[in-house]
Amino acid sequence: MIKFLDLKKVNARFKEEYEDVFNRFLNSGNYILGEEVSKFESAFKLYCGTGHCIGTSNGLDALRLIFEGYKILGKLHDGDEILVPANTYIASVLAISSANLKPILVEPDSISFNIDVHKAKSALTHKTKAILGVHLYGQLYDVHGLETLCKEQDLILIEDAAQAHGSSCFDGRKAGNVSDAAAFSFYPTKNLGALGDAGAVTTNDSALAEVVNKLRNYGRTSVYDNDLKGYNCRLDALQAAFLRIKLNHLDSDNQKRRSIAQQYLSLIDNDQISLPQFTHINEHVFHLFVIKNVNRDRLKSYLFENGVETFIHYPKAIHHQKAYSHLKTLHLPITSKLHNEILSLPLNTYLKSSEIEKIANLLTNFR
Ligand SMILES: Cc1ncc(COP(=O)(O)O)c(C=O)c1O
Repeated sequence: MIKFLDLKKVNARFKEEYEDVFNRFLNSGNYILGEEVSKFESAFKLYCGTGHCIGTSNGLDALRLIFEGYKILGKLHDGDEILVPANTYIASVLAISSANLKPILVEPDSISFNIDVHKAKSALTHKTKAILGVHLYGQLYDVHGLETLCKEQDLILIEDAAQAHGSSCFDGRKAGNVSDAAAFSFYPTKNLGALGDAGAVTTNDSALAEVVNKLRNYGRTSVYDNDLKGYNCRLDALQAAFLRIKLNHLDSDNQKRRSIAQQYLSLIDNDQISLPQFTHINEHVFHLFVIKNVNRDRLKSYLFENGVETFIHYPKAIHHQKAYSHLKTLHLPITSKLHNEILSLPLNTYLKSSEIEKIANLLTNFR
């Protein structure tokens, strides 16, 4: 069976470096925040090209702290409407509602899978205060389109960069640096994945960075002084140390992902299967390689019966989830259609050419 993703294989090549780091960490006697976290934050902000990086406990908390931070700064208020693509992972929307803001689901563009800027424009009301763009599957949203819209309408632009570490746009700016503030997840399956939960906020906004930095650590300014009612959302120091090792390999790993995507694109020959489309392959980091087929469930079973495991990102739209049952009457035909047709193929740095060929042949022969 070709597994969709084998995390043990992903991490095997870092084993010795991880063991060295763990021994150093154990002997340091300093297990919360400290040098490991600040070293990773410095390295990651340099990588993204932003002025600040604040490590957090996970991607959902990174997003949540951005929203809470803007509320503390007086730029967002309870009940403000935040536009978000309807086909994103539920965490994007949970972050909005948990900050007592109102998520407004906007249809994606069915080619790029990212938020449709025209539909975002149509969804604006006097209560709209921000857009949470999501770089779904590893390709940046329409950066120029969203930046222009947010500038025109005086909206805050926030990036959910959980799936896009290292991806870039037309002018070379990287994910994490094409908005007012960005959230990353370093969940183990991500292109830059830890060995547990981890996340980060990147921003060029010093005031927001200062608030997020306090919020993640009980709102405190010193050991016994607390300015804000904060949380415990700190980046784990050991995960920070592992991530710093992996960051050195992110660009070459993303390059490997692109070359696998390129092989799929040139080998799969079936006009009933839609392949991913993008502006420039060098800007995409292929966190996921998502194809579309009207008989998706039959295609998934066929691949499985022939030894290939696939996944669906995601099978159920947010407005069809029980947690958001008040949104169930929304008419989002593009989103619903995508959720019925999308299928993610295995795409990992360790995938062999023979495996890629096998998968591509199966897809070419599917009727
Ligand atoms: C688009 C998106 N946003 C947010 C998250 C949440 O990240 P985490 O799992 O680290 O909380 C994820 C994680 O899968 C994601 O894919």
